[in-house]
Amino acid sequence: MEGVPLEHILGWAEFAGGRVVVEPGVFVPRRRTELLVNEALALLADGPQLPPPVVVDLCCGSGAVGAAIMHQVPGVELHAADIEPGAVRCARRNLEPLGGQVHEGDLFAALPPALRGRVGVLAVNAPYVPTEAIRTMPPEARLYEPVGSLDGGPDGLDFHRRVAIGGIQWLSPHGHLLIETSARQAHGTAEILAAAGFAVRTVRSEELDGTVVVGRRVAESVRR
Ligand SMILES: C[S@@+](CC[C@H](N)C(=O)[O-])C[C@H]1O[C@@H](n2cnc3c(N)ncnc32)[C@H](O)[C@@H]1O
Repeated sequence: MEGVPLEHILGWAEFAGGRVVVEPGVFVPRRRTELLVNEALALLADGPQLPPPVVVDLCCGSGAVGAAIMHQVPGVELHAADIEPGAVRCARRNLEPLGGQVHEGDLFAALPPALRGRVGVLAVNAPYVPTEAIRTMPPEARLYEPVGSLDGGPDGLDFHRRVAIGGIQWLSPHGHLLIETSARQAHGTAEILAAAGFAVRTVRSEELDGTVVVGRRVAESVRR
């Protein structure tokens, strides 16, 4: 039992001022991901509220990001998706009581087709650990979180490439894609989003030790 994350023993994690259910085998939400929530909330506060904005929490794990957004913006239409059945089960426990909808499948393939072109905020904390770096992680992560929740491929950016290309098709004309990354990988993530046609800025919080790349869909973004 050595190294079992406390959150898996308790069955919940503290996140963004609330509690989320976290079942064993599901990624434990990290404090740095509160930056992703904060950036999503800032965009939602700026935008029109009618009709209610559509927010997608992609690679949702426990649904912590979506739940934190729904607590702050109750009218939001929230969809969350993950490929792991355990994560989906957990996200349903956290999001359905708030009115959120949770889908199971590979990235955008999980989403209802009716959302295509309607997503205002696409918030993504996908796996971004380079494959070779996983063995250097602390045992809580290495042994008790699924490798599929960590492994981002050789440079850690495989999911960022797929999300940037796919995201263009799902965002509304002025929609935003927000991707959590690391300080070290931020330049690579930003380049991927820029190449896909996004106007890009990078946000860093030393306090949260978080880094988020924000991409705004621009009119001439190519639909692939
Ligand atoms: C780093 S965890 C983040 C979970 C959650 N967003 C959070 O911040 O707590 C990445 C999540 O991506 C999910 N995932 C991995 N591959 C996926 C795929 N192809 N499609 C959808 N989700 C995927 C994993 O199951 C895991 O829950």
